[in-house]
Amino acid sequence: MNESVFRRPVRLAGERTIVRQLTLDDAAALVAIVRAEPEILPKTLHGVDDAEALAHWLTVAVPNGQRFGVSVHLAIADRETDTLIGFLGLFRVDAAHDTCEVGYALRRAERGRGHATEALRLACDWALRDCGLHRIELRTLTDNIASMRVAEKAGFRREGVQRGASEHRDLVMFSRLATDATGADATDGPVRLVGIGVGPGDPELVTAKAVRLLQEADVVLVPVMAPDEPGRAESVVREYTAKAERVVFALNDRGGVTEKRAAAWDGAAARVLEAFERGARTVVFATIGDPNVYSTFTYLAQSVRAGRPDVAVETVPGITAMQDLAARSGTVLAEGAESLALVPLTAGAGGFREALATCDTVVAYKFGSVAPEVTQALKDAGRLDDAVYGARLGLPGEDVGPASAIDGPVPYLSTLIVPARRTSRGGKL
Ligand SMILES: C[S@@+](CC[C@H](N)C(=O)[O-])C[C@H]1O[C@@H](n2cnc3c(N)ncnc32)[C@H](O)[C@@H]1O
Repeated sequence: MNESVFRRPVRLAGERTIVRQLTLDDAAALVAIVRAEPEILPKTLHGVDDAEALAHWLTVAVPNGQRFGVSVHLAIADRETDTLIGFLGLFRVDAAHDTCEVGYALRRAERGRGHATEALRLACDWALRDCGLHRIELRTLTDNIASMRVAEKAGFRREGVQRGASEHRDLVMFSRLATDATGADATDGPVRLVGIGVGPGDPELVTAKAVRLLQEADVVLVPVMAPDEPGRAESVVREYTAKAERVVFALNDRGGVTEKRAAAWDGAAARVLEAFERGARTVVFATIGDPNVYSTFTYLAQSVRAGRPDVAVETVPGITAMQDLAARSGTVLAEGAESLALVPLTAGAGGFREALATCDTVVAYKFGSVAPEVTQALKDAGRLDDAVYGARLGLPGEDVGPASAIDGPVPYLSTLIVPARRTSRGGKL
C-alpha cells in the first residue's frame, strides 16, 4: 500500500456526499454529536467530552494517524452545506497484506438518504485505487439489514458469518477487493434479467453461482403471494442478501391464465422495466427449485421481453424438489435405461395414471388438491407401497415418508416419487 497517500488530506466528492478530513470547523457539529448521539462517535472519542480534548483530537490526533496505529478517521459531510453528518474510519490497516477494515456511522436524521452508500463507495474506491490497498473488510450484525444493503450497494460481497464475534453476537463479514468488478465497470453490454433457482427451501441447496449473482445484482426480486407474507424463495435469498424486494404473484392461483395471474405477470414485468429505467444493469428474480421447471420466471421473462426486447434473459439452474426428495428419502430417480416422467397434477390425476402405466419412474408435482385421487391411482397400479412423499422439503414442517401414509389433503409444496420397479442390480442396463 501507499501509506503517504493514505495519510495525506483527502476530499472525495459524490453527488450528495463529501468524504473529507475532519477540521476545526467541524468542532461545533462534533460537540452537538457528543451531546446528542455519542453512540455514533468513533471509538477513539468515546468518553472525550470537553471542548479542549475535542479540539486536540481534531487538530493533533486525527491528522496524525500514528496515534492510533495506521488508520484514518474521515468526516462524512453533506455536499450542499459541508456540515459534518457522520464518520467513516479505515482501521486495522495491515500494510503487509494491504488490508484494512471500514466502519461508518451517520447522524440519525441523515439516514436513509443514500449518504452511507455514497460515502462508503467514495472512501473504498479511494483506498483501493489510490492508496494501493487490496482488500477492505466490513462487518455488520446479522440483523442489521440496512447496513448489509449499504455494503452490497457499495460493491461489497458477503463472505459468511463470524459466530459470536461481537459481544457474543454473530457478525456477517463482507469484503471488497481492488480486483472486484464494480457497478461502474459493468456498464457494457445489454441489461440482464437472470432467473435464479434457489432450490426447494434448504439454504444450503443453492449453487455458488446463484449466491454470487444474488450478491452482485443491482436488484433482487422475489415472488410472494401477498405483500406482507414472506415468500418461499425469499427465505432462502435472505440468507445471502439483504436486498430482496417482494413482487406479488398469484403463485397458486388455479384455472389457467386468470385475470389475476396475467395482472401479476404484468405488474412484475413493470417492476423489472422500472429497475432498468433507474439504471440497474442486472436484475435477478429468485424462484424455488429450478427456473426452467414449472417456474413463474418463464412468464415474467416473456412479459419483460415484450416491453424491452434488448434485455438479455439468462437462468441459473437450481436443485429441483424432486431431486431433494430423492436425496432425503434415499430414492434413486433413474438408472440404466429407465424413463423418468414428471407430471403436474393441476388438472387432475389423468396424466398421472397414464404415466404410471407407461413410464418407469414417475414424479408428481402440484397434487395438493387431488391427494386422494393420487393414492387411488397408485393403488390401482399396484405401486402405492413403493412411492415416497415429501412436503415442505427443507422448510419448517418438512414431512418425508411413504406415500401410503398420506391421509387427507396435503400442502401445495408436496412432491411424490414412484420409483421404477427394480428386481436386480443393473437389470435395466
Ligand atoms: C410451481 S412448481 C415449482 C417447481 C420448481 N421450479 C422445481 O424446480 O422444483 C411447484 C411444485 O413444486 C414442488 N415443490 C417445490 N418446492 C417444494 C418443496 N419445498 N417441498 C415439496 N415440494 C416442492 C411441489 O410439487 C409444488 O407443487
